Amino acid sequence: MIGTDISTAKTVLSNNKLVAIPTETVYGLAANALDQKAVTSIFEVKNRPSFDPLIVHIGQIEDVNRYANKVPEVAFQLAKEFWPGPLTLILEKSKDIPYIVTSGNETVGLRMPNHPLTLELLRSLDFPLAAPSANPFGYVSPTTAQHVADQLGPHIEYILDGGACQVGVESTIVKCTGNRVEILRLGGLPVESIEACLGRKVDDIQLSSSNPQAPGMLSSHYSPRKKLIYGNVNQHLESYHPDRVGFLWFDMGKEELADSNQRILSKKGNLAEAASNLFKYLRELDALDIDVILAESLPDEGLGKAINDRLMRASSL
Ligand code: TXA
Ligand code: MG
Repeated sequence: MIGTDISTAKTVLSNNKLVAIPTETVYGLAANALDQKAVTSIFEVKNRPSFDPLIVHIGQIEDVNRYANKVPEVAFQLAKEFWPGPLTLILEKSKDIPYIVTSGNETVGLRMPNHPLTLELLRSLDFPLAAPSANPFGYVSPTTAQHVADQLGPHIEYILDGGACQVGVESTIVKCTGNRVEILRLGGLPVESIEACLGRKVDDIQLSSSNPQAPGMLSSHYSPRKKLIYGNVNQHLESYHPDRVGFLWFDMGKEELADSNQRILSKKGNLAEAASNLFKYLRELDALDIDVILAESLPDEGLGKAINDRLMRASSL
């Protein structure tokens, strides 16, 4: 069932069943993070491997000290500046967080999402919510309630409809150890903003596709079912009949190509607008009667970095 009723969501979650929740980044598939059985059903419904840990969503900053130990000062500095918002902090877990949530790791990912319905829900509960993106493992993340219903509807008791996600790409994941600040996943909070807050460069950005710390960084993640080629569109265009191609452009399409096969992420060339359209357009192109999606690369700055990262991982080349 889809609806906007927070008390229904609260009842379902309190019975240790699943609710899809809106956030500013993408929709999450949520369960009581403190209940092993409830968390297990998230992995089952998503067909997610058990080695891929879940993010724990909290409603207030005081919860950090409940669910994490020895929290470094720099983590509070970032949380105060960017929460609620598209930032996940990886910290040493407290004993309250079951190992099923963290895939056996001693660390936990904490995030306070910026969506009025979900914040109200979280603040009304006496437990935090474990929630991965509400898509089958490996597929494009959902940015509307309908996306969730289309793919996982029958398996979810309630979908809390909070409209289209404003940011549109997943949170930036930051690991804080002592003074060290490491980016594990590029996302909705630009690295430049984090560095401006810190007044220095981050210590490391782990962009390796073989990084085992965050499977969201695996290549072949975020993929549509159709073949996707990312990079220089013109170079690949010659190899296909244009009717059999879907195009994902940054700010301008081509007049000689059919409009129905083209999506323009932001006609204004605005990276935030581009991010908010990314997954919706990938789904639309995936549904067309075509053989391949050609996606051009975006400017490699701010949110453009996170978008390029998603397209590269969705790409079959
Ligand atoms: O924006 C988001 O982060 C969305 C919304 C729903 O909050 N959630 C999301 O979850 O993208 P998911 O499960 O699709 O991606 C979470 C990523 C995974 O790649 C996982 O490996 C990483 O976070 N992660 C979670 N806990 C971790 C930990 N303790 N150490 C390292 N990586 C962790
Ligand atoms: Mg995901």
